Amino acid sequence: MEASTTSFSSLMGSSRTRTLIAFSFVTFSFLCLAIADGSATQQESCDMYQGNWVYDTSYPLYNSSACPFIHNDFNCLKYGRPDHLYLKYRWQPINCQLPRFDAEQLLKTLKGKKLVFIGDSISLNQWQSLVCMLHAAVPTSRIIKQHLYNHSIPAVTFKDYNVSVLLFHTLYLVDVDEETIGRVLKLNSITHGDVWKNFDVLIFNTWHWWHRKGQKQQWQYVEVDGKISKDMDRMTAFRMALTTWAKWVDSDVDANRTQVIFQGISPSHYNGAGWNEPGVRNCSRQMTPFTGPVHPTGLTHAVDVVKDVISSIKKPVYLLDITTLSQLRKDAHPSSYNALNGMDCTHWCVAGLPDTWNLLLYATLIK
Ligand SMILES: *[C@@H]1O[C@H](CO)[C@@H](O)[C@H](O)[C@H]1NC(C)=O
Ligand SMILES: *[C@@H]1O[C@H](CO)[C@@H](O)[C@H](O)[C@H]1NC(C)=O
Ligand SMILES: *[C@@H]1O[C@H](CO)[C@@H](O)[C@H](O)[C@H]1NC(C)=O
Ligand SMILES: *[C@@H]1O[C@H](CO)[C@@H](O)[C@H](O)[C@H]1NC(C)=O
Ligand SMILES: *[C@@H]1O[C@H](CO)[C@@H](O)[C@H](O)[C@H]1NC(C)=O
Repeated sequence: MEASTTSFSSLMGSSRTRTLIAFSFVTFSFLCLAIADGSATQQESCDMYQGNWVYDTSYPLYNSSACPFIHNDFNCLKYGRPDHLYLKYRWQPINCQLPRFDAEQLLKTLKGKKLVFIGDSISLNQWQSLVCMLHAAVPTSRIIKQHLYNHSIPAVTFKDYNVSVLLFHTLYLVDVDEETIGRVLKLNSITHGDVWKNFDVLIFNTWHWWHRKGQKQQWQYVEVDGKISKDMDRMTAFRMALTTWAKWVDSDVDANRTQVIFQGISPSHYNGAGWNEPGVRNCSRQMTPFTGPVHPTGLTHAVDVVKDVISSIKKPVYLLDITTLSQLRKDAHPSSYNALNGMDCTHWCVAGLPDTWNLLLYATLIK
């Protein structure tokens, strides 16, 4: 009896311990769930793209003079930009903090992978910024610049991490073919997709070349559904090309392997009406971000087209929605501080605004 009591109480004891353990495990998991849930809720309720530019003495994120990869058109300090305040702004979302950029964590996350920016010179802009951000963190590791795929695609490879960051240059995503009649923009054809399928993270961008006419127009004819014409409504053409891209994503991307991101439309600053200085025709001597609500000056429709087309894709595609936060940065373009001394209010200084695009990209990739 005694023994059995003992054994009973010891059994009770151990069972109480078990219960306690079980209980604390439940509490612990519950807490974990609550924490996971809390951060998930925060992530979901937090729109990273709504916020303000705040002055931050710790900026810029890297010393651009020490980055060997910057194209002369974006290297504003090298070309004598005297004001440096534009380097000191950090994007602060209203309801949350952006994660601190941890280059090593990103390189480990991307181990064995190829990340590629696909698009026009705005892609080049973001590619260079990302490469500088990674280089600044691991400057003594083995980093090589090479051309992959038949020497056609520039890539920076971080050998110690087996990560390559590539740039695939294409102005329209869809094809432009040299034919007997001339150069034909083919809105239903996207043959480069066969190359893109080899990569793991795809960050697309196209917009700036769609409305260009005259000397800057890169084609003589446009082909839709086998019919060739001299020209067409450019916004309609843009939508058709994006729709061709969207169908390609749904039919050809292996969503188990490849992550698809669309870099939202990057704004230019050639019209002061957008920041309450009507009559101003460029970004020269703009030294601070705009603090009021911006007037989109014509961009909304293109942004709507992008959002509309992306929402039609069945596979997951993430929109890096940089338009609004970039519209505020009339101060962040090279203006005349570039190799050609031309007035450039389309691209962005590196270091500078594209670093923030990459912080937002980072937040998405490490999730
Ligand atoms: C930035 O890098 C350049 C070139 O390596 C170097 O001369 C300069 O001292 C660095 N500036 C700062 C603030 O570290
Ligand atoms: C690098 O990653 C690729 C793709 O995952 C893999 O095929 C290759 O073996 C890796 N190389 C090294 C040196 O780990
Ligand atoms: C690579 O370049 C060679 C020489 O220009 C060309 O013959 C070949 O078709 C190219 N291969 C690919 C896959 O583009
Ligand atoms: C992707 O992964 C899912 C779940 O593991 C699997 O059912 C599906 O067949 C995979 N798709 C491809 C194209 O590999
Ligand atoms: C830029 O704008 C300023 C003032 O609005 C004007 O004086 C200047 O000529 C413009 N420069 C170029 C290259 O357009």
